[in-house]
Amino acid sequence: MATRGTEGRPVEGMGRERQVRTIFSEIAPRYDLLNRVLSLSVDRRWRRRAIDALGWEAAPAGTYLDACAGTYDLARELCDRRSFRGSVVASDFALPMLQEGRGKVQGRAVRPVCGDTLRLPFPDAVFSGATVAFGVRNLAHLERGLAELQRVLAPGGRLVILEFTEPPNPLFRALYHFYFRSILPRVGRLVSGHPWAYTYLPESVKEFPDPDGLAELLRGVGFDEVRWRFLTWGIAALHLGVKPGARGGG
Ligand SMILES: C[S@@+](CC[C@H](N)C(=O)[O-])C[C@H]1O[C@@H](n2cnc3c(N)ncnc32)[C@H](O)[C@@H]1O
Repeated sequence: MATRGTEGRPVEGMGRERQVRTIFSEIAPRYDLLNRVLSLSVDRRWRRRAIDALGWEAAPAGTYLDACAGTYDLARELCDRRSFRGSVVASDFALPMLQEGRGKVQGRAVRPVCGDTLRLPFPDAVFSGATVAFGVRNLAHLERGLAELQRVLAPGGRLVILEFTEPPNPLFRALYHFYFRSILPRVGRLVSGHPWAYTYLPESVKEFPDPDGLAELLRGVGFDEVRWRFLTWGIAALHLGVKPGARGGG
């Protein structure tokens, strides 16, 4: 394939956006299976925590955005909350991911939109809340993406971000590095058949700001009440920010 190097690495000079879209388009058929296997299903608990933090109960009939939605796990988690009566716009720039997961949200109020989080194809202040799970780490311009998410949120709307982090405990971090850098790329390559997608994952986590850094960026693009907490010994973190202004109903 023209976009891959001969040693199973991305071709040099391939822009980050294109690289990321290529990876997820190519691994889409195996993405859910790999998620469950590689996270030992802990990701399900993290997604529940993310929806718990969204504050959707204040606007149960609102329209919510799940950006970098992939195969709709978060969109489904929100739609399946008992008194939720609203809808979810699930946007992602890798069409195969949206196509692959479609069956999981059949009959639910989920509208897929193929679009870039760096240029969200929505007007200002239209969403009651927004979520991004394991997506912001992939953005070629993190601040621009966060600013876009802030722009499309209605005043008082919350943004919830789930992202991988480096565990703070040195011993656990050493174990985690071994898993993340040695085991995960091998299992990922074996199951997905993709030569470099699961090498990219640990590299992207290493390059990503730490939780305080991400919180600072959220404040910088105009979010209020920014806070975060570790999940599962610091393998992941959950960030929350609120767009300034009074929240409407829904
Ligand atoms: C690790 S997956 C996460 C998918 C899903 N949120 C989940 O929790 O399983 C990252 C997703 O972000 C999408 N993505 C990355 N950068 C993007 C961008 N700039 N615009 C839209 N989608 C993007 C990828 O296509 C991919 O589907």
